Amino acid sequence: MAKHISKQDSENSSTRREFLKQFGFGAVAAGMAAPLLDNAYSATEQKTTGHKVKYRVLGKTGLRISEIGIGGHSWAYKQVPDGQGGYRRPTVNEAVRMIAAGMDMGVNFLDSCTALEESSVPGEALKRLKARDRIIVSIRVSHKMKGIKADKQEIYKWTEKRLKLWQTDYVDLCLLCNTENDTPQSGYWDMSYSIEALDKLKQQGKIRFTGFGCHFTPELFLEAFDKFGDYFDICSIPYNIRHRAAEKVLPAAKKKGLGVITIKPFVRGALLKDRDLKGADAGLPRDLISFVLENKLVDICTCGVHTIEQVRENLSASWTKLSPGRRKRIEKIAAVNIHDREYAWLEQGWRYA
Ligand SMILES: NC(=O)c1ccc[n+]([C@@H]2O[C@H](COP(=O)([O-])OP(=O)(O)OC[C@H]3O[C@@H](n4cnc5c(N)ncnc54)[C@H](OP(=O)(O)O)[C@@H]3O)[C@@H](O)[C@H]2O)c1
Repeated sequence: MAKHISKQDSENSSTRREFLKQFGFGAVAAGMAAPLLDNAYSATEQKTTGHKVKYRVLGKTGLRISEIGIGGHSWAYKQVPDGQGGYRRPTVNEAVRMIAAGMDMGVNFLDSCTALEESSVPGEALKRLKARDRIIVSIRVSHKMKGIKADKQEIYKWTEKRLKLWQTDYVDLCLLCNTENDTPQSGYWDMSYSIEALDKLKQQGKIRFTGFGCHFTPELFLEAFDKFGDYFDICSIPYNIRHRAAEKVLPAAKKKGLGVITIKPFVRGALLKDRDLKGADAGLPRDLISFVLENKLVDICTCGVHTIEQVRENLSASWTKLSPGRRKRIEKIAAVNIHDREYAWLEQGWRYA
């Protein structure tokens, strides 16, 4: 069984030294020619300011987690200009560079959701970086809560597939997810079989901690904390400057000792759309994350990224305080209307605290 990341692991400087040595970062820092692997990120890319992300404790898991994490959505979709007027997915080499850059600034959390690339791309990247033991890996088991016996087999199958894609024999976090559309037929409120399956996976050492995170209303989250908060370790909730209802539900999550992973700091990019991020709106992504991190009931803000520049900018939120002027700017941006049907559940349920 692979070594599990712990408080000591993430503080273990000798492990970190080995990592830097292996990828030549120590030599880069010392101004020497670095023996970089062709898939590690280069000396010019490694122009960090020396800043590190801060850590928080992920609720009752006790894990010491970087307050900003990298989400899998951006590995799965075509987001990178292909030079021919279209878009392509980030390559594994690019993911290696982004993850290495993030780790160098202290990131120790990677999340994946449904699409297979969300697990296979970072899985292969972690293998190449030999970094599995220094990362908290989170998977999400989607749409497997029908309240019937067959839920168990579905959860086992799903988890086995993710373990293969992540090229690991265990994951740190496993979150049950479904959407509001699934809820009526899914039997979300009868999770007994799902919980049985999760218990078995825990006994087998395949998952360490469990949670849930769904496209639900805040009211359903409150009900879920009440019913299942004692069993689960973590919850995952949308939270950003426009959708602030999490402020109303987080105290109940914390009362149960749940770790809190927030998603959608940019509403999957919608708050950044048509913005002049290199000009008048520079620093906007950072400020949107700083806003999320101001809430001390949040343990980690997870964001999708597909370039090293995005990694650097987003992580800088950890050491950049939101000034009154920049707060005004994001409050103004929060007033924009979002018409995309994909976000109807957020717009209807999560607008206000
Ligand atoms: N059902 C679930 O459980 C669930 C649902 C949603 C999300 N999640 C998790 O949460 C993670 C975050 O996803 P999200 O939906 O919350 O999206 P998000 O982080 O709000 O938005 C990510 C997108 O924002 C853009 N972006 C990020 N940093 C940027 C920067 N510095 N400058 C300009 N643009 C930037 C990129 O969009 P472009 O690529 O378009 O530039 C990126 O793909 C996911 O990857 C996933 O792990 C889970």
